[in-house]
Amino acid sequence: MKSLPTLVLTSLLFCTGSVFAQAKVTGPKLSPAALETIETRCALCHGKEGESASAVYPRLAAQHPDYMVKQLKDFRDGRRKSDAMNEMAKGLADEVIVELAGWFSSRAPAARRGGDPDLAAVGRYIFTKGNPYSGVAACASCHGEKGHGTQQLPRLAGQHPAYVETQLKEFGKRERTNDNAVMHTIASKLTELEVHAVAVFLGGQQ
Ligand code: HEC
Ligand code: HEC
Repeated sequence: MKSLPTLVLTSLLFCTGSVFAQAKVTGPKLSPAALETIETRCALCHGKEGESASAVYPRLAAQHPDYMVKQLKDFRDGRRKSDAMNEMAKGLADEVIVELAGWFSSRAPAARRGGDPDLAAVGRYIFTKGNPYSGVAACASCHGEKGHGTQQLPRLAGQHPAYVETQLKEFGKRERTNDNAVMHTIASKLTELEVHAVAVFLGGQQ
């Protein structure tokens, strides 16, 4: 049975990201309704594998299912405001939401490329230590040492920096309406540089 992992590794090494994304993939079995929703709606912006092409659409691959279920219900029921997502989640049944979240969370995150190393270093400091001088808590204390999150807390590792920045600004201004006070308190104390730096750092994490 040693040849299988070797084969997988070899094909990974010789395939480009896009070829790999098109390869046949297995995942949780989807009902026809969920599969159709993914292929005709979600995939347009988030990609079928959860690797969105544009930085304004969050990457969903490997994001936690319970966190996504909550966000999708919040979009559907209007608790989290988004022009794109309120429309997309409208009318989705609870069971379909669970299937969609299960699908995207089962997708492996693609390799990441780091941004400006100086900014990323500042970002790493904020992420692991917070800012003791302005009372910002270390992000790692909730989102995990590697930014992988927990069932209820979002994975941040590898997320598009532009999306992370937008969310932090929205938390800061109380425009992301479905959060409790936690992220507002933190984000409202971050400077423009810190927001940018932590987003660049996270974008390069695997
Ligand atoms: C027209 C583009 C578009 C389509 C189609 C779309 N989305 Fe989104 N999605 C977005 C945008 C933009 C956001 C970020 C919203 C915000 O800024 O708050 C988002 C956010 C999300 C989030 C929250 C991610 C997070 O980290 O908090 C989830 C989950 C999600 N989408 C799932 C889906 C699913 C499932 C579908 C299919 C039913 C779908 N989306 C279809 C654009 C789209
Ligand atoms: C005390 C715990 C806690 C700490 C510390 C914390 N967060 Fe969060 N964060 C959360 C929770 C809880 C959510 C989910 C909110 C929701 O359900 O909408 C969240 C959500 C987020 C999101 C939205 C992710 C998405 O996919 O939409 C970002 C970005 C984020 N946090 C960044 C940070 C950064 C950067 C730091 C450090 C400066 C930080 N967080 C520190 C608890 C925390």
